[in-house]
Amino acid sequence: MKIAVLPGDGVGPEVVAQALRVLQCLDLKFETEMALVGGAAYEAQGHPLPPATLALATAADAVLFGAVGDWKYDKLERALRPEQAILGLRKQLGLFANFRPAICYEQLTHASSLKPELVAGLDILIIRELTGDIYFGQPRGRRKAPDGAFAGADEAFDTMRYARPEIERIAHVAFQAARKRGKKLTSVDKANVLETFQFWKDVVTQVHTEYPEVQLEHMYVDNAAMQLVRAPKAFDVIVTGNMFGDILSDEAAMLTGSIGMLPSASLDANGKGLYEPSHGSAPDIAGKDIANPLATILSAAMMLRFTLNQTSAAERIESAVRSVLGSGLRTADIWSAGGTQVGTRAMGDAVVAALARPGTKTITTER
Ligand code: IPM
Ligand code: MG
Repeated sequence: MKIAVLPGDGVGPEVVAQALRVLQCLDLKFETEMALVGGAAYEAQGHPLPPATLALATAADAVLFGAVGDWKYDKLERALRPEQAILGLRKQLGLFANFRPAICYEQLTHASSLKPELVAGLDILIIRELTGDIYFGQPRGRRKAPDGAFAGADEAFDTMRYARPEIERIAHVAFQAARKRGKKLTSVDKANVLETFQFWKDVVTQVHTEYPEVQLEHMYVDNAAMQLVRAPKAFDVIVTGNMFGDILSDEAAMLTGSIGMLPSASLDANGKGLYEPSHGSAPDIAGKDIANPLATILSAAMMLRFTLNQTSAAERIESAVRSVLGSGLRTADIWSAGGTQVGTRAMGDAVVAALARPGTKTITTER
């Protein structure tokens, strides 16, 4: 098994370093190879997703990704901005299914901005379509007004678009995930206004006939945004398009206490995946040993589960994270009175130490 490690920008390298330490102490057989991506790659090689990085990611069984982006690249033409690296990887590798579980760890019930009783025991899964929608729709661009008179009359446009097979495959993924969990799927759309999402709703409804054991509900995205903070535990699995999924998953992150806790897996049709924290590069805190590495460590656990078939090793990491939180250690983003504040590295140390403690030991299976 080969893992391509793409730390990227900002806090990316710091959090990925901790996830790698955790993986390395598990005694599993895998190889890692690192490459530049995002702003770091643009600086060194003139492109956010250099051919060598794409080739490595394509050849690897899994990709462990940090984060990309920095405000200092805002003036670059879009094709050279760091974000194009992650969008390019998703598209080129066909990573259409994005899993963003939002789990409120018992120890963090009070770190959420919502009342504890609303989030206690929360365990929902957002499945975001990741390679279509307005993110990738053509045509897109800018043009001058016909008279060309005022610079201020320029217009810009992006096209929202989904093809039937794109909706069908993500719907299948979502129904199958729901079938393994609480058997309830909420499909989020904006069918009351957008033709693309009326189509989405129709196709999801058709796919539902193959999964009669799953209860399907449809919800408009504005209502879903509201329900997520009103009664988040009423959800089980949510499936939605690229744009709405981007927004709702950030919202869901706050239910868990911090976006620093939210891992993600982006999968292709064969189980190959890219694993990244849901948070960004946070340039304001980069290099300061402040960032929470748990989202990346938990993403590494998702990698073990989804791509490397090492379920028990994944569970070991997750229980080590639980035990570290239970011992009161907190990075700044999840700190509240009573806990012990630690930095990125010390949080990684604590997870490594928890893995070494007897009781968290589990036999891992070779693939
Ligand atoms: C995410 C991020 C990305 C997205 C950015 C960095 C392009 O916000 O993974 O949620 O919009 O998909
Ligand atoms: Mg986002």
